[in-house]
Amino acid sequence: MQIGTPLSPNATRVMLLGSGELGKEVIIALQRLGVEVIAVDRYENAPGQQVAHRSYTIDMTDDEALRALIFKEKPHLIVPEIEALNTATLADIEAAGMATVIPTVKAVQLTMNREGIRRLAAEELGLPTSPYAFAHSEAELQAAIDAGIGYPCFIKPTMSSSGKGQSRITQASEVKIAWDYAASGGRVNQGVVIVEGQIAFDYEITLLTVRAKNAAGEIATYFCEPIGHVQEKGDYVESWQPQAMTAGALAESKRIAKAVTDSLGGLGLFGVELFIKGDSVWFSEVSPRPHDTGMVTMCSQRFSEFDLHARAILGLPVDVSLSNPGASAVIYGGHASKNLLFTGVDAALAVPNSDLRLFGKPESFVKRRMGVALATGRDVTEARERAKLSASLVKPVAV
Ligand SMILES: Nc1ncnc2c1ncn2[C@@H]1O[C@H](COP(=O)(O)OP(=O)(O)OP(=O)(O)O)[C@@H](O)[C@H]1O
Ligand SMILES: [Mg+2]
Repeated sequence: MQIGTPLSPNATRVMLLGSGELGKEVIIALQRLGVEVIAVDRYENAPGQQVAHRSYTIDMTDDEALRALIFKEKPHLIVPEIEALNTATLADIEAAGMATVIPTVKAVQLTMNREGIRRLAAEELGLPTSPYAFAHSEAELQAAIDAGIGYPCFIKPTMSSSGKGQSRITQASEVKIAWDYAASGGRVNQGVVIVEGQIAFDYEITLLTVRAKNAAGEIATYFCEPIGHVQEKGDYVESWQPQAMTAGALAESKRIAKAVTDSLGGLGLFGVELFIKGDSVWFSEVSPRPHDTGMVTMCSQRFSEFDLHARAILGLPVDVSLSNPGASAVIYGGHASKNLLFTGVDAALAVPNSDLRLFGKPESFVKRRMGVALATGRDVTEARERAKLSASLVKPVAV
Protein backbone atom coordinates (compact mmCIF):
# COMPACT_ATOMS: atom_id res chain seq x y z
CA MET A 1 0.00 0.00 0.00
CA GLN A 2 1.38 3.42 -0.96
CA ILE A 3 0.10 6.97 -0.60
CA GLY A 4 1.05 9.75 -3.02
CA THR A 5 1.69 13.43 -2.44
CA PRO A 6 -1.50 15.50 -2.22
CA LEU A 7 -2.00 18.05 -5.01
CA SER A 8 0.56 16.25 -7.20
CA PRO A 9 -0.16 13.93 -10.13
CA ASN A 10 0.44 10.85 -7.96
CA ALA A 11 -1.93 11.96 -5.16
CA THR A 12 -4.23 9.38 -3.56
CA ARG A 13 -7.61 11.02 -4.12
CA VAL A 14 -10.76 10.32 -2.10
CA MET A 15 -14.15 11.91 -2.80
CA LEU A 16 -16.70 12.17 0.01
CA LEU A 17 -20.31 12.20 -1.15
CA GLY A 18 -21.94 13.98 1.76
CA SER A 19 -19.79 16.11 4.01
CA GLY A 20 -21.64 16.56 7.29
CA GLU A 21 -20.13 16.17 10.74
CA LEU A 22 -19.28 12.50 10.20
CA GLY A 23 -17.74 13.15 6.79
CA LYS A 24 -15.76 16.02 8.26
CA GLU A 25 -14.05 13.69 10.73
CA VAL A 26 -13.35 11.10 8.01
CA ILE A 27 -11.78 13.88 5.92
CA ILE A 28 -9.58 15.01 8.82
CA ALA A 29 -8.47 11.40 9.35
CA LEU A 30 -7.63 11.08 5.63
CA GLN A 31 -5.83 14.44 5.59
CA ARG A 32 -3.61 13.23 8.43
CA LEU A 33 -2.50 10.33 6.22
CA GLY A 34 -1.64 12.70 3.38
CA VAL A 35 -4.63 11.87 1.21
CA GLU A 36 -6.09 14.44 -1.21
CA VAL A 37 -9.74 14.91 -0.32
CA ILE A 38 -12.65 16.29 -2.32
CA ALA A 39 -15.79 17.09 -0.30
CA VAL A 40 -19.20 17.13 -1.96
CA ASP A 41 -22.48 18.16 -0.40
CA ARG A 42 -25.88 19.48 -1.39
CA TYR A 43 -25.37 22.80 0.40
CA GLU A 44 -22.49 25.31 0.56
CA ASN A 45 -20.02 25.33 3.45
CA ALA A 46 -21.04 21.94 4.81
CA PRO A 47 -18.79 20.89 7.72
CA GLY A 48 -16.56 18.60 5.62
CA GLN A 49 -16.20 21.17 2.85
CA GLN A 50 -14.48 23.43 5.38
CA VAL A 51 -11.57 20.99 5.86
CA ALA A 52 -11.11 19.41 2.40
CA HIS A 53 -8.64 20.26 -0.40
CA ARG A 54 -11.52 21.08 -2.75
CA SER A 55 -15.26 21.19 -2.35
CA TYR A 56 -18.33 21.12 -4.59
CA THR A 57 -22.02 21.67 -4.07
CA ILE A 58 -24.23 19.55 -6.34
CA ASP A 59 -27.40 17.48 -6.29
CA MET A 60 -25.93 14.01 -5.80
CA THR A 61 -29.12 12.31 -6.99
CA ASP A 62 -28.58 13.96 -10.40
CA ASP A 63 -26.82 11.49 -12.72
CA GLU A 64 -25.28 14.11 -15.01
CA ALA A 65 -23.95 16.36 -12.24
CA LEU A 66 -22.49 13.46 -10.27
CA ARG A 67 -20.93 11.80 -13.32
CA ALA A 68 -19.39 15.08 -14.55
CA LEU A 69 -17.82 15.75 -11.17
CA ILE A 70 -16.33 12.26 -10.89
CA PHE A 71 -14.90 12.58 -14.43
CA LYS A 72 -13.40 15.94 -13.53
CA GLU A 73 -11.84 14.91 -10.21
CA LYS A 74 -10.96 11.27 -10.97
CA PRO A 75 -11.01 10.05 -7.35
CA HIS A 76 -9.54 6.63 -6.61
CA LEU A 77 -12.11 6.03 -3.88
CA ILE A 78 -15.68 7.33 -3.60
CA VAL A 79 -16.95 7.39 -0.02
CA PRO A 80 -20.70 7.88 0.44
CA GLU A 81 -21.67 9.57 3.69
CA ILE A 82 -25.36 9.99 2.95
CA GLU A 83 -28.09 7.84 1.44
CA ALA A 84 -29.63 10.29 -1.05
CA LEU A 85 -27.29 9.45 -3.94
CA ASN A 86 -27.68 8.29 -7.50
CA THR A 87 -26.46 4.75 -6.91
CA ALA A 88 -26.97 3.77 -10.57
CA THR A 89 -24.35 6.38 -11.50
CA LEU A 90 -21.97 4.94 -8.92
CA ALA A 91 -22.56 1.42 -10.22
CA ASP A 92 -21.69 2.61 -13.75
CA ILE A 93 -18.56 4.42 -12.63
CA GLU A 94 -17.31 1.38 -10.77
CA ALA A 95 -18.17 -1.00 -13.62
CA ALA A 96 -16.14 1.22 -15.95
CA GLY A 97 -13.16 0.79 -13.59
CA MET A 98 -12.98 4.53 -12.87
CA ALA A 99 -13.15 4.37 -9.07
CA THR A 100 -13.94 2.07 -6.16
CA VAL A 101 -17.14 2.76 -4.24
CA ILE A 102 -16.81 2.27 -0.45
CA PRO A 103 -17.58 -0.24 0.84
CA THR A 104 -19.32 -1.67 -2.26
CA VAL A 105 -22.00 -0.52 -4.68
CA LYS A 106 -24.20 -3.32 -3.37
CA ALA A 107 -23.91 -2.04 0.21
CA VAL A 108 -24.71 1.52 -0.80
CA GLN A 109 -27.69 0.40 -2.88
CA LEU A 110 -29.16 -1.92 -0.25
CA THR A 111 -28.77 0.42 2.72
CA MET A 112 -30.15 3.53 1.02
CA ASN A 113 -33.56 1.92 1.25
CA ARG A 114 -34.91 0.19 4.36
CA GLU A 115 -36.59 -2.38 2.15
CA GLY A 116 -33.31 -3.54 0.59
CA ILE A 117 -31.41 -4.08 3.82
CA ARG A 118 -34.38 -5.52 5.74
CA ARG A 119 -35.10 -8.13 3.08
CA LEU A 120 -31.42 -9.03 2.90
CA ALA A 121 -31.11 -9.47 6.67
CA ALA A 122 -34.42 -11.21 7.37
CA GLU A 123 -35.24 -13.08 4.18
CA GLU A 124 -31.85 -13.84 2.61
CA LEU A 125 -29.62 -14.18 5.68
CA GLY A 126 -32.36 -15.42 8.03
CA LEU A 127 -31.37 -13.05 10.84
CA PRO A 128 -33.81 -12.13 13.61
CA THR A 129 -35.55 -8.77 13.06
CA SER A 130 -38.76 -7.14 14.26
CA PRO A 131 -41.89 -8.31 12.39
CA TYR A 132 -42.35 -5.97 9.43
CA ALA A 133 -44.32 -5.19 6.28
CA PHE A 134 -44.14 -2.60 3.51
CA ALA A 135 -47.14 -0.46 2.63
CA HIS A 136 -47.85 1.75 -0.39
CA SER A 137 -51.00 3.37 0.98
CA GLU A 138 -52.75 4.12 4.22
CA ALA A 139 -55.12 1.22 3.58
CA GLU A 140 -52.22 -1.20 3.06
CA LEU A 141 -50.62 0.10 6.24
CA GLN A 142 -53.77 -0.51 8.27
CA ALA A 143 -54.17 -3.97 6.73
CA ALA A 144 -50.58 -4.94 7.59
CA ILE A 145 -51.03 -3.86 11.21
CA ASP A 146 -54.31 -5.75 11.47
CA ALA A 147 -52.79 -8.84 9.84
CA GLY A 148 -50.33 -9.35 12.68
CA ILE A 149 -47.87 -6.48 13.24
CA GLY A 150 -50.20 -5.06 15.90
CA TYR A 151 -49.57 -2.18 18.31
CA PRO A 152 -47.34 -0.53 19.39
CA CYS A 153 -45.59 -0.28 16.04
CA PHE A 154 -43.13 1.98 14.24
CA ILE A 155 -43.87 3.54 10.85
CA LYS A 156 -40.91 4.86 8.86
CA PRO A 157 -40.34 6.14 5.34
CA THR A 158 -38.23 3.56 3.49
CA MET A 159 -35.79 6.35 2.57
CA SER A 160 -34.93 8.37 5.66
CA SER A 161 -32.56 8.59 8.60
CA SER A 162 -32.21 10.33 11.97
CA GLY A 163 -35.84 9.57 12.75
CA LYS A 164 -37.18 11.79 9.96
CA GLY A 165 -40.81 10.98 9.17
CA GLN A 166 -40.83 8.21 11.79
CA SER A 167 -43.56 7.62 14.37
CA ARG A 168 -44.49 5.11 17.03
CA ILE A 169 -48.21 4.51 17.33
CA THR A 170 -50.32 2.61 19.82
CA GLN A 171 -53.80 2.58 18.27
CA ALA A 172 -55.74 2.60 15.00
CA SER A 173 -56.73 6.26 15.30
CA GLU A 174 -53.06 7.23 14.80
CA VAL A 175 -52.51 5.34 11.55
CA LYS A 176 -53.51 8.21 9.27
CA ILE A 177 -51.24 10.72 11.06
CA ALA A 178 -48.32 8.28 10.88
CA TRP A 179 -48.91 7.61 7.18
CA ASP A 180 -49.10 11.33 6.34
CA TYR A 181 -46.00 12.08 8.40
CA ALA A 182 -43.98 9.27 6.80
CA ALA A 183 -45.09 10.24 3.31
CA SER A 184 -43.88 13.81 3.88
CA GLY A 185 -40.74 13.03 5.91
CA GLY A 186 -38.72 10.80 3.57
CA ARG A 187 -35.58 12.10 1.88
CA VAL A 188 -36.64 10.94 -1.56
CA ASN A 189 -40.36 10.37 -1.40
CA GLN A 190 -41.02 6.86 -2.64
CA GLY A 191 -44.53 6.61 -1.27
CA VAL A 192 -43.50 3.43 0.56
CA VAL A 193 -43.32 2.96 4.31
CA ILE A 194 -42.11 0.13 6.50
CA VAL A 195 -44.17 -0.78 9.54
CA GLU A 196 -42.34 -2.67 12.27
CA GLY A 197 -43.68 -4.33 15.38
CA GLN A 198 -42.07 -2.96 18.53
CA ILE A 199 -39.24 -4.97 20.07
CA ALA A 200 -39.43 -4.52 23.86
CA PHE A 201 -35.65 -4.42 24.23
CA ASP A 202 -33.67 -4.00 27.46
CA TYR A 203 -31.19 -1.76 25.63
CA GLU A 204 -29.91 -1.07 22.12
CA ILE A 205 -26.37 -0.96 20.78
CA THR A 206 -24.31 0.00 17.79
CA LEU A 207 -21.66 -2.61 17.08
CA LEU A 208 -18.98 -0.89 15.02
CA THR A 209 -17.68 -3.60 12.72
CA VAL A 210 -14.60 -3.08 10.58
CA ARG A 211 -13.64 -4.97 7.45
CA ALA A 212 -9.94 -4.30 6.99
CA LYS A 213 -6.86 -6.04 5.67
CA ASN A 214 -4.89 -8.17 8.12
CA ALA A 215 -1.14 -8.81 8.12
CA ALA A 216 -1.58 -11.43 5.40
CA GLY A 217 -3.37 -8.92 3.18
CA GLU A 218 -6.72 -10.71 3.52
CA ILE A 219 -9.94 -8.99 4.59
CA ALA A 220 -10.69 -9.71 8.25
CA THR A 221 -13.54 -8.56 10.52
CA TYR A 222 -12.86 -6.60 13.70
CA PHE A 223 -15.40 -5.54 16.34
CA CYS A 224 -15.16 -2.43 18.50
CA GLU A 225 -16.54 -2.62 22.05
CA PRO A 226 -20.35 -2.24 21.93
CA ILE A 227 -21.78 1.27 22.11
CA GLY A 228 -24.96 1.89 24.12
CA HIS A 229 -27.20 4.81 23.22
CA VAL A 230 -30.41 6.66 23.94
CA GLN A 231 -32.68 7.76 21.09
CA GLU A 232 -35.39 10.41 21.26
CA LYS A 233 -37.91 10.37 18.42
CA GLY A 234 -35.51 8.27 16.34
CA ASP A 235 -32.55 10.63 16.81
CA TYR A 236 -29.59 9.79 19.04
CA VAL A 237 -29.04 12.10 22.02
CA GLU A 238 -26.45 10.22 24.07
CA SER A 239 -24.04 7.32 23.58
CA TRP A 240 -21.40 5.52 25.62
CA GLN A 241 -18.77 2.81 25.27
CA PRO A 242 -18.48 0.09 26.43
CA GLN A 243 -22.05 -1.09 26.95
CA ALA A 244 -22.05 -4.01 29.41
CA MET A 245 -23.51 -7.15 27.83
CA THR A 246 -23.88 -10.82 28.67
CA ALA A 247 -21.40 -13.10 26.89
CA GLY A 248 -24.31 -14.71 25.03
CA ALA A 249 -25.74 -11.41 23.76
CA LEU A 250 -22.31 -10.19 22.69
CA ALA A 251 -21.56 -13.39 20.79
CA GLU A 252 -24.94 -13.28 19.06
CA SER A 253 -24.42 -9.58 18.20
CA LYS A 254 -21.10 -10.39 16.58
CA ARG A 255 -22.61 -13.29 14.65
CA ILE A 256 -25.33 -11.02 13.23
CA ALA A 257 -22.91 -8.17 12.46
CA LYS A 258 -20.51 -10.55 10.73
CA ALA A 259 -23.26 -12.08 8.61
CA VAL A 260 -24.54 -8.68 7.47
CA THR A 261 -21.14 -7.12 6.80
CA ASP A 262 -19.83 -10.26 5.03
CA SER A 263 -22.80 -10.02 2.73
CA LEU A 264 -22.34 -6.29 2.04
CA GLY A 265 -18.60 -6.79 1.48
CA GLY A 266 -15.78 -4.39 0.67
CA LEU A 267 -13.50 -2.50 3.04
CA GLY A 268 -14.55 -0.02 5.72
CA LEU A 269 -16.35 0.48 9.00
CA PHE A 270 -20.04 -0.34 9.48
CA GLY A 271 -22.42 0.67 12.27
CA VAL A 272 -24.62 -2.34 13.02
CA GLU A 273 -27.69 -1.35 15.07
CA LEU A 274 -29.03 -4.12 17.31
CA PHE A 275 -31.78 -4.47 19.93
CA ILE A 276 -30.96 -6.64 22.97
CA LYS A 277 -33.19 -8.41 25.49
CA GLY A 278 -31.45 -10.88 27.79
CA ASP A 279 -29.42 -13.09 25.46
CA SER A 280 -31.68 -12.38 22.47
CA VAL A 281 -30.57 -9.99 19.74
CA TRP A 282 -32.50 -8.45 16.82
CA PHE A 283 -30.93 -6.80 13.80
CA SER A 284 -32.36 -3.30 13.22
CA GLU A 285 -30.30 -1.62 10.50
CA VAL A 286 -26.73 -0.94 9.37
CA SER A 287 -24.77 2.07 8.11
CA PRO A 288 -21.97 1.13 5.68
CA ARG A 289 -19.94 4.00 7.16
CA PRO A 290 -19.24 5.66 10.53
CA HIS A 291 -22.32 6.00 12.72
CA ASP A 292 -23.51 9.05 14.65
CA THR A 293 -23.58 7.14 17.97
CA GLY A 294 -19.94 6.20 17.27
CA MET A 295 -18.78 9.78 17.81
CA VAL A 296 -18.00 8.63 21.35
CA THR A 297 -14.99 6.77 19.92
CA MET A 298 -13.27 10.14 19.47
CA CYS A 299 -12.57 9.94 23.21
CA SER A 300 -12.89 6.25 24.09
CA GLN A 301 -10.78 4.39 21.54
CA ARG A 302 -7.15 4.55 20.51
CA PHE A 303 -8.43 5.19 16.95
CA SER A 304 -11.84 6.77 16.42
CA GLU A 305 -14.38 5.20 14.07
CA PHE A 306 -13.31 7.87 11.55
CA ASP A 307 -9.63 6.92 11.76
CA LEU A 308 -10.63 3.27 11.44
CA HIS A 309 -12.77 3.95 8.36
CA ALA A 310 -9.95 5.94 6.73
CA ARG A 311 -7.42 3.22 7.42
CA ALA A 312 -9.66 0.36 6.38
CA ILE A 313 -10.67 1.89 3.03
CA LEU A 314 -7.04 2.61 2.19
CA GLY A 315 -6.17 -1.05 2.83
CA LEU A 316 -4.25 -0.25 6.01
CA PRO A 317 -4.28 -2.24 9.27
CA VAL A 318 -6.64 -1.26 12.10
CA ASP A 319 -6.56 -1.35 15.90
CA VAL A 320 -10.05 -1.28 17.40
CA SER A 321 -9.00 -1.27 21.04
CA LEU A 322 -10.78 0.76 23.71
CA SER A 323 -8.54 3.14 25.65
CA ASN A 324 -11.04 4.09 28.40
CA PRO A 325 -14.78 4.32 29.04
CA GLY A 326 -16.31 7.33 27.28
CA ALA A 327 -19.58 9.06 26.45
CA SER A 328 -21.03 11.58 24.02
CA ALA A 329 -23.98 13.97 24.39
CA VAL A 330 -25.58 15.90 21.53
CA ILE A 331 -25.74 19.70 21.39
CA TYR A 332 -28.80 20.93 19.47
CA GLY A 333 -29.09 24.37 17.87
CA GLY A 334 -32.07 25.36 20.00
CA HIS A 335 -32.82 28.17 17.50
CA ALA A 336 -33.30 28.65 13.78
CA SER A 337 -30.40 30.90 12.84
CA LYS A 338 -27.69 31.53 10.25
CA ASN A 339 -25.31 33.10 12.73
CA LEU A 340 -25.61 31.10 15.89
CA LEU A 341 -23.25 31.95 18.77
CA PHE A 342 -22.06 29.19 21.08
CA THR A 343 -21.71 30.67 24.55
CA GLY A 344 -20.49 28.80 27.62
CA VAL A 345 -17.79 26.90 25.71
CA ASP A 346 -15.28 27.72 28.45
CA ALA A 347 -17.57 26.34 31.15
CA ALA A 348 -18.29 23.22 29.08
CA LEU A 349 -14.59 22.50 28.61
CA ALA A 350 -13.90 23.06 32.30
CA VAL A 351 -15.78 19.81 33.03
CA PRO A 352 -13.07 17.24 33.91
CA ASN A 353 -11.97 14.95 31.04
CA SER A 354 -14.32 16.66 28.57
CA ASP A 355 -13.93 17.69 24.95
CA LEU A 356 -16.17 19.31 22.33
CA ARG A 357 -16.84 19.17 18.62
CA LEU A 358 -18.71 22.11 17.14
CA PHE A 359 -19.49 21.07 13.59
CA GLY A 360 -19.52 24.53 11.97
CA LYS A 361 -22.85 24.03 10.19
CA PRO A 362 -23.79 27.28 8.45
CA GLU A 363 -27.42 27.15 9.51
CA SER A 364 -29.03 25.98 12.71
CA PHE A 365 -32.53 24.69 13.48
CA VAL A 366 -34.08 24.03 16.88
CA LYS A 367 -33.48 20.27 16.60
CA ARG A 368 -30.45 20.32 14.32
CA ARG A 369 -27.37 18.60 15.74
CA MET A 370 -24.74 21.34 15.89
CA GLY A 371 -22.12 19.75 18.10
CA VAL A 372 -21.32 17.02 20.55
CA ALA A 373 -19.70 16.91 23.98
CA LEU A 374 -17.32 14.04 24.73
CA ALA A 375 -16.02 12.87 28.08
CA THR A 376 -14.09 10.02 29.58
CA GLY A 377 -14.40 8.63 33.10
CA ARG A 378 -13.45 5.75 35.39
CA ASP A 379 -16.63 4.06 34.22
CA VAL A 380 -19.46 4.73 31.79
CA THR A 381 -21.64 6.30 34.49
CA GLU A 382 -19.06 8.97 35.26
CA ALA A 383 -18.33 9.56 31.56
CA ARG A 384 -22.06 9.99 30.80
CA GLU A 385 -22.54 12.47 33.63
CA ARG A 386 -19.61 14.54 32.43
CA ALA A 387 -20.64 14.49 28.77
CA LYS A 388 -24.22 15.51 29.60
CA LEU A 389 -23.02 18.27 31.91
CA SER A 390 -20.55 19.58 29.34
CA ALA A 391 -23.20 19.55 26.57
CA SER A 392 -25.70 21.37 28.81
CA LEU A 393 -23.21 24.16 29.52
CA VAL A 394 -22.94 25.08 25.83
CA LYS A 395 -25.73 27.62 25.30
CA PRO A 396 -26.42 28.46 21.68
CA VAL A 397 -27.70 32.02 21.23
CA ALA A 398 -29.35 33.38 18.08
CA VAL A 399 -28.12 36.89 17.24
N1 LIG B 1 -39.14 -2.04 15.75
C1 LIG B 1 -38.67 -1.29 16.74
N2 LIG B 1 -38.80 -1.67 18.04
C2 LIG B 1 -38.35 -0.90 19.05
N3 LIG B 1 -37.74 0.29 18.87
C3 LIG B 1 -37.57 0.73 17.62
C4 LIG B 1 -38.03 -0.03 16.48
N4 LIG B 1 -37.73 0.67 15.38
C5 LIG B 1 -37.12 1.81 15.78
N5 LIG B 1 -37.02 1.86 17.12
C6 LIG B 1 -36.40 2.95 17.92
O1 LIG B 1 -36.24 4.10 17.09
C7 LIG B 1 -34.84 4.35 16.84
C8 LIG B 1 -34.61 4.85 15.44
O2 LIG B 1 -35.01 3.86 14.51
P1 LIG B 1 -34.17 3.63 13.17
O3 LIG B 1 -32.75 3.39 13.52
O4 LIG B 1 -34.85 2.60 12.36
O5 LIG B 1 -34.39 5.05 12.48
P2 LIG B 1 -33.41 6.00 11.70
O6 LIG B 1 -34.24 7.09 11.17
O7 LIG B 1 -32.61 5.18 10.75
O8 LIG B 1 -32.48 6.58 12.79
P3 LIG B 1 -30.91 6.82 12.71
O9 LIG B 1 -30.62 7.39 11.37
O10 LIG B 1 -30.69 7.80 13.84
O11 LIG B 1 -30.27 5.49 12.95
C9 LIG B 1 -34.14 3.05 17.17
O12 LIG B 1 -32.78 3.26 17.48
C10 LIG B 1 -34.99 2.55 18.34
O13 LIG B 1 -34.68 3.26 19.53
MG1 LIG C 1 -31.01 3.84 13.30
